[in-house]
Amino acid sequence: MKLKFLLRTPLRNFHNSCGRSVSYISNIDENKNEIPSMQTHEHKLKMSGWQIHNYGDLDELLFSDRLKMPQIRQSNECLVKIQAASVNPIDVAMLGGYGATVLKVLRCQPSVIEFPITLGREFCGTLIQNGMSVNNFKLPIGQRVWGVVPVQNTQGAHAQYVCVPDYCVAMAPQTLSHTEAASVLYAGLTAWSGIYITAQLGGICGALTADGGGGAQKRVLVLGGSGAVGSLAIQILKAQACQVMSTCSENAIDMVKNLGADCVVDYRNPSYMATLRNYAPYDLVLDCSGQGSETAQSLDFAYGQYVTFSSPILRNIDSSGVGLGLLKNVANILEANVKSLTNRKGLIKYGFFIPAPQGIELLKQLVERKKLLPLIDSCYKFQELPEAFKRVKAGHLRGKVVVTLD
Ligand SMILES: NC(=O)c1ccc[n+]([C@@H]2O[C@H](COP(=O)([O-])OP(=O)(O)OC[C@H]3O[C@@H](n4cnc5c(N)ncnc54)[C@H](OP(=O)(O)O)[C@@H]3O)[C@@H](O)[C@H]2O)c1
Repeated sequence: MKLKFLLRTPLRNFHNSCGRSVSYISNIDENKNEIPSMQTHEHKLKMSGWQIHNYGDLDELLFSDRLKMPQIRQSNECLVKIQAASVNPIDVAMLGGYGATVLKVLRCQPSVIEFPITLGREFCGTLIQNGMSVNNFKLPIGQRVWGVVPVQNTQGAHAQYVCVPDYCVAMAPQTLSHTEAASVLYAGLTAWSGIYITAQLGGICGALTADGGGGAQKRVLVLGGSGAVGSLAIQILKAQACQVMSTCSENAIDMVKNLGADCVVDYRNPSYMATLRNYAPYDLVLDCSGQGSETAQSLDFAYGQYVTFSSPILRNIDSSGVGLGLLKNVANILEANVKSLTNRKGLIKYGFFIPAPQGIELLKQLVERKKLLPLIDSCYKFQELPEAFKRVKAGHLRGKVVVTLD
C-alpha cells in the first residue's frame, strides 16, 4: 500500500462517481484542453464520439461532441485518450445487430436496453488514468499505448476516450505510427488465438508464452491471406518458420507473396485452387476468408485441423434465442466434424478474437523484430467515420482501415 502511495506521488487521487479511487497525471489536469476540470465536474466531462441508438445501416452512426466521458469503474481499468482507431468487419456487423443477443448476456444485462453503443474494437492512444490495481511500472500514465476493447463493452474506441481493463492495453511499439499501431491488435489477436489457442500449433507453450509461439516446420494453408486476419496470420506463421500456402484475389497475389507466403493462389480460379492439393496434407487450414465450416467439405485434400473464424454461433443465437441457438451450435459443429472425419479429414474448430496479454506481447515482439508489418488500406479523419465503414463494407481491403483523431 505504501509502495503504491509512493508510486503515485506525482499523481493526484480522486474518487469517481462509484466511490472508487483512481489516479491521473497531475499536469494533464492543468492542461484544460486535455481533461477540463476533472476533479470538480466529473459529471459534466464531455467528449466527441460516434454512437448508434439503433441497429441498422450507416445512417445510424451519429456524431456528437457532447458525449459523457467514460469513467474508471473497476480498479483494473485504464482510461486512454485515443489518437487512432480502426474499423473492422465486426464493427460493420455489430452495426447491423450481429451478436446482440449473446453480447447482452455477456454484459449480464439481458433485459436492459444496450443503447447507445460506441463501436470500435482497437486503438492507439495515451494513457490518462489508471485504476488502483493497475501496475504503474508496466503501464505508466502518459505513455503511448495500443489496445483492444472487449466485445461485450458497449463503449468502444470510436470516441476521444475509452476505458478498458489493463489486460487489454500495453505500451505501443515505438517503431509504429499511431495509425499503424491502431491496426494490428484486433486482427492479430484473432490470428494468434486461432493458431496457438484453438489449433494449439505450438503446443501448450505456444499459447502460454510470448517468446516464440512455436510450431516450426508445420504446413499451414491460410484462406484469405490478403485480409486483415490472414495477412497477420501469414506473418506470425512465417516468423515461426512454418510453411505457408495462401489464397486471395488475383490482384493481391504479389502483396501476399511479399508477406512471406510460400505459395499463393487465386481463389476464383478452380485450376489454381487444385494445385493446393500438391502440398497436402496440411497440419492446419486457417479460414480467414469468412467462408465458414462448409468450405472444409469442398477441400479435396487432407488436413489435421480446419479452424474457421466465421462460426455460426452468434448468428444462431441471434435468430433462435439462447436455448435453441446453443442446441443449433452443438448440432452444427457435430455435423461439420462428422462429415470431415468420415472423409478422413481433420477436426473442425471455431477460432475467436481473444484479448490475451501473451498474444499482445508476441505481436509486439514480432513488430519490434520487423517480422510483422502492418498494412494500411486507407486512413480517414475521425469526422469521416461513416466513409471508413463504407470502405470496410465494400470488402477486398488491402490492409486495415483506420480513423485518426486530432
Ligand atoms: N470470430 C472472431 O472473433 C473474428 C474476429 C475477427 C475476424 N473474424 C472474421 O474473420 C474473417 C476475416 O476477417 P478480416 O478482418 O481479415 O476480413 P477482411 O480483411 O475483409 O479479409 C477477408 C479475406 O477473405 C478473402 N475473400 C473474400 N471473399 C472470398 C471468397 N468468396 N472466397 C475466398 N476468400 C474470400 C479476401 O480476399 P480478397 O480481398 O483478396 O478478395 C480477404 O483475403 C471475417 O469473416 C471476420 O468476420 C472473426
